[in-house]
This record gives sequence, structure tokens and C-alpha cells, in this order.
Amino acid sequence: MCGIFAYLNYLTPKTRREVLEYLVTGLKRLEYRGYDSAGVAVDSDDGKGITLVKQTGKVKILEDAIKEFMTGHDIDTPISTHCGISHTRWATHGVPSDLNSHPQRSDEENSFVVVHNGIITNYKDVKKFLEKRGYRFESETDTEIIAKLVHHLYLQHPNYSFRELVEQVIQQMEGAFALAFKSKHFPGECVATRRGSPLLVGIKTKTRLATDHIPILYGKDSATDPEHRPHGAGREVPMIPRTESTSEFQPLEDKEVEYFFASDASAVIEHTNRVIYLEDDDVAAVKDGALSIHRLKKSLDDKHAREIITLKMEIQEIMKGSYEYFMQKEIFEQPESVINTMRGRVNLVNNTVTLGGIKEYIPEIKRCRRLMLIGCGTSYHSAVATRQLLEELTELPVMVELASDFLDRNTPIFRDDVCFFISQSGETADTLMALRYCKQRGALIVGITNTVGSSICRESHCGVHINAGPEIGVASTKAYTSQFISLVMFGLVMSEDRISLQTRRQEILEGLKNLDSQIKEVLKLDLQVLEIAKDLFQQKSLLIMGRGYNFATCMEGALKVKELTYMHCEGIMAGELKHGPLALVDDMMPIVMIVMRDCVYNKTINAIQQVKARGGQPIVICEENDKETMQFAHKVLEVPKTVDCLQGVLTVIPMQLLSYHIAVLRGCNVDCPRNLAKSVTVE
Ligand code: AGP
Repeated sequence: MCGIFAYLNYLTPKTRREVLEYLVTGLKRLEYRGYDSAGVAVDSDDGKGITLVKQTGKVKILEDAIKEFMTGHDIDTPISTHCGISHTRWATHGVPSDLNSHPQRSDEENSFVVVHNGIITNYKDVKKFLEKRGYRFESETDTEIIAKLVHHLYLQHPNYSFRELVEQVIQQMEGAFALAFKSKHFPGECVATRRGSPLLVGIKTKTRLATDHIPILYGKDSATDPEHRPHGAGREVPMIPRTESTSEFQPLEDKEVEYFFASDASAVIEHTNRVIYLEDDDVAAVKDGALSIHRLKKSLDDKHAREIITLKMEIQEIMKGSYEYFMQKEIFEQPESVINTMRGRVNLVNNTVTLGGIKEYIPEIKRCRRLMLIGCGTSYHSAVATRQLLEELTELPVMVELASDFLDRNTPIFRDDVCFFISQSGETADTLMALRYCKQRGALIVGITNTVGSSICRESHCGVHINAGPEIGVASTKAYTSQFISLVMFGLVMSEDRISLQTRRQEILEGLKNLDSQIKEVLKLDLQVLEIAKDLFQQKSLLIMGRGYNFATCMEGALKVKELTYMHCEGIMAGELKHGPLALVDDMMPIVMIVMRDCVYNKTINAIQQVKARGGQPIVICEENDKETMQFAHKVLEVPKTVDCLQGVLTVIPMQLLSYHIAVLRGCNVDCPRNLAKSVTVE
């Protein structure tokens, strides 16, 4: 939800044109996180103030506005040190509008400007506090209070450093945030911080840094009194002990350096692969070219330094290449992404599977009372897809839970539970909250994520990286199939020493071996799917039915159709047909049915006959050459046969393609569906 990108060049002269180009490109990379409005802040023409350009709509509209701004301004003079901040928004407080877009400002002079990702839950109290002190608000956002509060504190404490002011501000904030600040009072400086929303710092230097660790500087006295927050009480904001400002990290002797602050790595990878993932409540400040990281309080699990890590991501991974949309590219990447998920893990010679990230914990997992698989949206569907197999291979009770519902219920959790948190982004707020809930209750936490360094990754005891590569399209596709395979691999690890399961394991391993070539076969259906999409795209509704191992495909297919095409679509458990949904069926209702030759085949055939008896004309996804099933079909999509528990990897792909083509035919923006964002970091 929302993307932050900030850029600071120190003793590396850049024109404002270049800085603006960096900012806009950074925002384009982050646009999938939110795209209803965008804005930038750079130094003004005389270098003494701040210029804001903000626009409702996508980053392209902002880019056009920036081009307009460029004419008539001197933007080609190189500036040796400069800081620019930018933001692409997914509205939470206040409609998408120029005024509500970020950066938000402290006053008409733009003394302090801030970009924010997240939600400040106590913003009304802080707003009241500031209004009593004469501040007038121009936007409907929660973010504006941040800009105004830092300004208020600056006026009270003009001797405080920029970083100290931000530290004071975040002590007053409740909720979730990633923030980047710029101020006309602190030219060439940038301060950024996070709590509950991701933020990283990219570092670019001419020669390799002398260190891979940035030491953390702590406050002298860690005591802070939450009572002192300005809950509209009319008190002044209490000042908290200032953190040490000595011995700041000096990156290089000549100190030429560029810094990038971003919500995720895709925005910085074209500039540098050296990054630091900030932790909650870290305050990162760049002053005189030196980066320092501060924390007010020491916590028990503090690492005392932040490591600079080298990203393995390649720039091509975040480019569309010859594809029309990222989603299309990601669908077609699945033959490789599933291999990447298995690479170095599945050994087809000696039939073993090794998951390095959870290896040490396997004995503990084997002793557990039950497995819980928790996630949202597509990630939840991957749990539904593999539940049956995990029950079979682990012989443990397996519960699948939607993270939001799980929290609503205050679900009982025990120390001997093992809880899996499945999340492509690793940042989904509901999933993260559920993780913390289970961790507090002593359960073992296993993260299944696609994003190295994400919050879920870092807060899990152990985990599996699905290694699907960056997924940019808001609709999750390759992450789903990789999550699916990761969970299957986990089942194989758990059953390695079960003699009675060896034949089953063998057939699954065989299935995994052939999966990439079978996915390639399924992708050849693309044109056939397009023809079906042409029949369906003007319809109002679509039902997708199946059961057993393929029920997850129905739910996942329906989610794809809904989010991309805005058409009503429902995934229906075929066993439930006569308990209600059959009433929807007539000769006009578009229906897709998934009919595989597995243990529920006969029951699914019953369902298809019931549909036919009501005049339904099902489009059937079935196994290649299954003539018997095809006779019930109005139209057919044939997919290769694999082992029953992996069939869902193949049946979901025609549904991904179908939703994609319907969306294109309906003129929808495939990568950025309305009202949605890739990473849902708010509850
Ligand atoms: C899928 O197409 C969605 N956009 C959405 O349901 C997504 O899967 C969900 O928000 C969970 O995201 P996560 O995997 O990053 O946690």
C-alpha cells in the first residue's frame, strides 16, 4: 500500500532534472503498491525552499506535470548535494486528490515535507493538539499531522537535529508507518523511519564500503512514557532523551555517496544492489553524506548493527520485456519460477527434499499438535490447495485460516502448534498481526514468503523462500504456484522416513520433475483461452466449480476474475451445488468446471450432469484426451495429467489466462486493478 522513494546525492553532482527522473522511475517501479495519486518534493530553484509537484492519478500523470514544471525552471544546473522524496498513494484517509497526495507539508512555506506509507491510528488526537496551537489542515489525510508535528517541535526546539525531531515525532505516533522526511531547514539531509511498514536504504558508492555493518546508536535513557502522547490533552509534547549522535558511520573517505530510501528493492536495484532493511523504530538519517541508524530503546533481540546485504535480484526481473503486462509475463514465467522454487531442494536422483530454512526445526515440527496455515487472498488459497496432501503426508491435523478471520476470532493457539504464515510480499498486515499473535502464545512460526528481508521473513523462527522472483502485477500468479510447491516440498520432507508413504512420495517427486514442461504445455492453451474470453467478457457473472484437490483452483480462479475484470465470479465447491448454488444455473449462466480423473471424479461428473440437466453449458477443464468427460462439455480446455495433488498447479493456469484476457477485452488495467494494491500493509 503506497510506495516511498527518496534519493539523496552527496558530493555527486546531479541536476534537478536527473533527480526528478530518478524519483519518477522509482515511483514507476513501486506503482503496483498504490496508484491513485503521486507526488515529489525537490529543492526549489534558489535551493532555499522546497518545491512540491503532486497529481491525482497514476505516476504517468505526475510525470507529465513534472515535464510541464520543467519548462520555465532552471533544472539543469548540477547540485552537489540534494535530497528528493516521492510517493505513490493508495488512499486510506481521504479520497485520491492533489491535496491528499503526498508529500504532505507542515505549512505554506513547505518547511517540512513527509511521505508516508501506513495508517496513523491516533491522528485525530494529534490533530486536535495541533489545531489548538493554531495549525490549519488542508488535507483529509492522517499524514499531514506528521509534517505539522515535526514543524511544531522544530519551533520549540530549534537546536535539535533533524533526526532528533523525527525521533520525537514517532514517539507520538500510534499505528503503522514508513516515513521519509525532507526539510528546508536541513538542506541535503534526509531522515527515514518505519514501524510496521517496509523500508530499505540503498547505498551506492564508487568503491566498496569498508564495512558491511552499520552500528546502531541508542538513546541514553530508554524510558518513554506513553501517557505523554498528545491525546488532545492540551499538554506540550514531552521531549524524549536524545540518542547519541557521535561516531556516525562514514561510508568512504572521499564520501561521495548516493542513498535511496524505498518501500522495496525493485525501486533501487537499477542503482545499487547494496541495501539495508530497516527494522521497526529504526531512524535512519543522512547528514553530511553519513548514514547513521538510531534507536531510542534497546530491545532484547537487538542486533546492535544493521547489515548491508547484497541483493541477488536482476534488473530484467522487474522489467516487462516483450510482454504487454507484468501479469502476463509472470504467468508465462511459471515454467522457470517453479524450477527456481525447487532448485537445490529437490534431489531427483536420491528422492530427497531439503529445505535449508526449516531443516533444524523438522524434529520439533514432527512433534507438534497441529499445523496451521494462515494467509490472505491467493496465499490463503495455496494453503487450501495443499491441505489435503499435508494431512496425508504429515498425518497431523492441518487447519487453514484466513488471517483476518483468525484474528477476529481470537483463535486459541498452543505452544505445541506450528503456524505457517504464507505471504508473497511478506508484509500483509493481517498476516503479520496473526504471526505476532501466534508468536506471543509460544507457537513455532514458519514463514513462507517471496520477499527476502520482509517483515514476515524476519519475524519468523524459520521459513522457506519460495524464490519465484519479483512479482509486480497486483494479481498474484507465479507466487501462487511457487507457494503451492513449497508446501508440497514441506510435506515431502515430513514424510521422508515414512515407509508406508514411499510410493506416494515417489509419484509426487516424479510429478514435480515434469511440472515445468507440463506448465509449458498448458501455456500453449493461451489462444484457445482467448477465444473463450471473447465469449465471456461481456457477461455479468461467472461460476467456477470443482472439488477435492481442485477446489482451490476454483477459489483462486474466481479471485483472479474478480480483481482483474470487476465481473462477479464465484468459486463453488461442487459438493455444495445442490445446497444452493444450483439455483443460479440456467442456459444463460456462464460456468467453468474442473473435472480431473482423481478420487472425486465420479462425484464431479454427478455435478456436471446436474448442471447439464438445468440447461447449463459448462466450459470444462479436464485431462488430455479424456473423451468421456468431454462429452459433457460445451467447450474444453485439456491440460496434461499429473499426480492428483499437483494437478491444481496445472488447472489454475487456464484460469489465470482467462482472467487476464477478459480483463484486457474489458479494457481494464491488468497490472493495477482499481481500488487494489499489491501489498496490503493496513488492516
Ligand atoms: C491476489 O491476486 C491478490 N492481489 C491478493 O489476494 C494477495 O494474494 C493478498 O493480498 C495476500 O498478499 P500476500 O501474499 O503478499 O500476503
